[in-house]
Amino acid sequence: MASDTTCGYPDESIRPGRRAFIKCALLAGATGVLAGVPLLSYVAAPALKKGTTRWIDFGPVDQLKPGGIEMLSYEFMVKDGWLVLPQRGFVWAKLDSPGKITVFSSTCTHLACNVIWRKEKGIFECPCHSGQFDINGRPIAGPPTKPLVAWAHKVEEGKLMVLMPA
Ligand code: FES
Repeated sequence: MASDTTCGYPDESIRPGRRAFIKCALLAGATGVLAGVPLLSYVAAPALKKGTTRWIDFGPVDQLKPGGIEMLSYEFMVKDGWLVLPQRGFVWAKLDSPGKITVFSSTCTHLACNVIWRKEKGIFECPCHSGQFDINGRPIAGPPTKPLVAWAHKVEEGKLMVLMPA
Protein backbone atom coordinates (compact mmCIF):
# COMPACT_ATOMS: atom_id res chain seq x y z
CA MET A 1 0.00 0.00 0.00
CA ALA A 2 1.41 3.36 -1.02
CA SER A 3 1.61 6.07 1.67
CA ASP A 4 0.12 9.52 1.17
CA THR A 5 3.01 11.97 1.33
CA THR A 6 1.04 15.06 0.24
CA CYS A 7 -0.81 15.49 3.59
CA GLY A 8 -3.91 16.70 1.88
CA TYR A 9 -2.18 19.23 -0.35
CA PRO A 10 -3.16 18.54 -3.90
CA ASP A 11 0.04 19.96 -5.28
CA GLU A 12 3.36 18.74 -3.93
CA SER A 13 5.03 22.04 -4.90
CA ILE A 14 2.97 24.25 -2.49
CA ARG A 15 3.04 21.89 0.53
CA PRO A 16 5.02 23.50 3.41
CA GLY A 17 7.95 21.62 4.80
CA ARG A 18 7.90 20.17 8.31
CA ARG A 19 10.24 22.86 9.70
CA ALA A 20 8.17 25.69 8.25
CA PHE A 21 5.03 24.16 9.71
CA ILE A 22 6.56 23.79 13.21
CA LYS A 23 7.90 27.34 13.03
CA CYS A 24 4.47 28.68 12.14
CA ALA A 25 2.82 26.65 14.90
CA LEU A 26 5.31 27.91 17.49
CA LEU A 27 4.87 31.51 16.37
CA ALA A 28 1.10 31.19 16.52
CA GLY A 29 1.33 29.67 20.02
CA ALA A 30 3.70 32.37 21.26
CA THR A 31 1.46 35.09 19.84
CA GLY A 32 -1.53 33.55 21.58
CA VAL A 33 0.27 33.44 24.93
CA LEU A 34 1.59 37.01 24.58
CA ALA A 35 -1.87 38.32 23.76
CA GLY A 36 -3.66 36.13 26.28
CA VAL A 37 -1.67 36.85 29.47
CA PRO A 38 -2.38 40.60 29.60
CA LEU A 39 -5.96 40.02 28.55
CA LEU A 40 -6.47 37.39 31.23
CA SER A 41 -4.91 39.54 33.97
CA TYR A 42 -6.99 42.53 32.83
CA VAL A 43 -10.17 40.48 33.08
CA ALA A 44 -9.38 38.50 36.23
CA ALA A 45 -7.45 40.96 38.42
CA PRO A 46 -10.36 43.14 39.58
CA ALA A 47 -12.37 40.10 40.59
CA LEU A 48 -9.46 38.66 42.61
CA LYS A 49 -8.63 41.90 44.44
CA LYS A 50 -9.68 41.51 48.07
CA GLY A 51 -8.71 42.59 51.53
CA THR A 52 -8.03 46.25 50.85
CA THR A 53 -8.61 48.97 53.43
CA ARG A 54 -8.86 52.72 53.32
CA TRP A 55 -8.94 55.61 55.76
CA ILE A 56 -12.40 57.16 55.98
CA ASP A 57 -12.85 60.73 57.20
CA PHE A 58 -15.59 60.94 59.85
CA GLY A 59 -15.27 64.66 60.39
CA PRO A 60 -14.22 66.81 63.33
CA VAL A 61 -13.24 64.79 66.36
CA ASP A 62 -14.67 67.46 68.67
CA GLN A 63 -18.19 66.35 67.69
CA LEU A 64 -17.68 63.48 70.14
CA LYS A 65 -18.88 64.15 73.67
CA PRO A 66 -16.83 62.73 76.55
CA GLY A 67 -18.57 59.69 78.06
CA GLY A 68 -20.97 59.44 75.14
CA ILE A 69 -21.43 57.13 72.20
CA GLU A 70 -22.14 58.69 68.82
CA MET A 71 -23.42 57.14 65.62
CA LEU A 72 -21.24 58.29 62.73
CA SER A 73 -22.35 57.45 59.21
CA TYR A 74 -20.22 56.98 56.12
CA GLU A 75 -20.55 56.59 52.39
CA PHE A 76 -17.78 55.86 49.94
CA MET A 77 -17.42 54.17 46.59
CA VAL A 78 -16.00 50.65 46.38
CA LYS A 79 -14.80 48.88 43.28
CA ASP A 80 -16.13 45.33 43.33
CA GLY A 81 -14.84 43.48 40.31
CA TRP A 82 -16.15 45.53 37.40
CA LEU A 83 -18.71 47.46 39.43
CA VAL A 84 -18.21 50.63 41.44
CA LEU A 85 -20.82 50.68 44.17
CA PRO A 86 -21.57 52.98 47.10
CA GLN A 87 -20.86 51.50 50.48
CA ARG A 88 -22.96 53.04 53.23
CA GLY A 89 -23.22 52.37 56.89
CA PHE A 90 -22.35 53.65 60.31
CA VAL A 91 -20.00 53.06 63.20
CA TRP A 92 -20.29 53.77 66.89
CA ALA A 93 -17.63 56.08 68.33
CA LYS A 94 -16.98 56.21 72.06
CA LEU A 95 -14.97 58.98 73.67
CA ASP A 96 -13.86 57.93 77.16
CA SER A 97 -11.60 60.90 77.75
CA PRO A 98 -9.82 63.38 75.49
CA GLY A 99 -7.71 61.31 73.11
CA LYS A 100 -9.16 57.97 74.20
CA ILE A 101 -11.53 56.98 71.42
CA THR A 102 -12.93 53.59 70.46
CA VAL A 103 -14.68 53.12 67.13
CA PHE A 104 -16.93 50.05 67.02
CA SER A 105 -18.25 48.39 63.92
CA SER A 106 -22.04 48.46 63.87
CA THR A 107 -22.06 44.87 62.58
CA CYS A 108 -23.24 42.24 65.02
CA THR A 109 -20.77 39.39 65.33
CA HIS A 110 -23.56 36.81 65.20
CA LEU A 111 -25.11 37.17 61.73
CA ALA A 112 -24.13 40.71 60.75
CA CYS A 113 -27.23 42.77 61.56
CA ASN A 114 -26.60 46.35 62.69
CA VAL A 115 -26.41 46.87 66.43
CA ILE A 116 -28.03 49.94 68.01
CA TRP A 117 -26.76 51.84 71.04
CA ARG A 118 -29.42 51.91 73.76
CA LYS A 119 -28.40 54.86 75.87
CA GLU A 120 -31.09 54.20 78.50
CA LYS A 121 -29.79 50.63 79.04
CA GLY A 122 -26.13 51.40 78.42
CA ILE A 123 -25.73 48.52 75.95
CA PHE A 124 -25.56 47.81 72.24
CA GLU A 125 -28.56 45.77 71.16
CA CYS A 126 -29.04 43.71 68.04
CA PRO A 127 -32.65 43.67 66.79
CA CYS A 128 -32.28 40.40 64.87
CA HIS A 129 -31.83 37.84 67.64
CA SER A 130 -31.68 40.03 70.75
CA GLY A 131 -27.91 39.93 71.02
CA GLN A 132 -26.45 42.39 73.51
CA PHE A 133 -23.01 43.93 73.98
CA ASP A 134 -21.75 46.05 76.84
CA ILE A 135 -20.39 49.57 76.42
CA ASN A 136 -16.97 48.11 75.58
CA GLY A 137 -18.41 45.90 72.83
CA ARG A 138 -18.21 42.62 74.78
CA PRO A 139 -21.10 40.17 74.25
CA ILE A 140 -23.29 39.90 77.35
CA ALA A 141 -26.49 38.21 76.15
CA GLY A 142 -27.99 36.36 73.20
CA PRO A 143 -26.21 34.40 70.49
CA PRO A 144 -23.11 36.58 69.84
CA THR A 145 -19.92 35.14 71.33
CA LYS A 146 -17.39 37.56 69.86
CA PRO A 147 -17.01 41.24 70.74
CA LEU A 148 -17.85 44.03 68.31
CA VAL A 149 -14.95 44.82 66.02
CA ALA A 150 -13.06 47.95 67.03
CA TRP A 151 -11.69 49.72 63.98
CA ALA A 152 -8.21 51.19 63.90
CA HIS A 153 -8.39 54.96 63.86
CA LYS A 154 -6.34 58.14 64.17
CA VAL A 155 -6.91 61.85 64.56
CA GLU A 156 -5.45 63.88 61.73
CA GLU A 157 -5.78 67.66 61.58
CA GLY A 158 -8.66 67.48 64.05
CA LYS A 159 -10.54 64.87 62.03
CA LEU A 160 -11.40 61.32 63.06
CA MET A 161 -10.02 58.92 60.45
CA VAL A 162 -11.07 55.26 60.60
CA LEU A 163 -9.40 52.40 58.74
CA MET A 164 -12.15 50.38 57.11
CA PRO A 165 -12.37 47.54 54.63
CA ALA A 166 -13.02 48.91 51.16
S1 FES B 1 -27.40 38.96 64.15
FE1 FES B 1 -27.17 39.95 66.01
S2 FES B 1 -27.91 38.55 67.45
FE2 FES B 1 -28.09 37.53 65.57
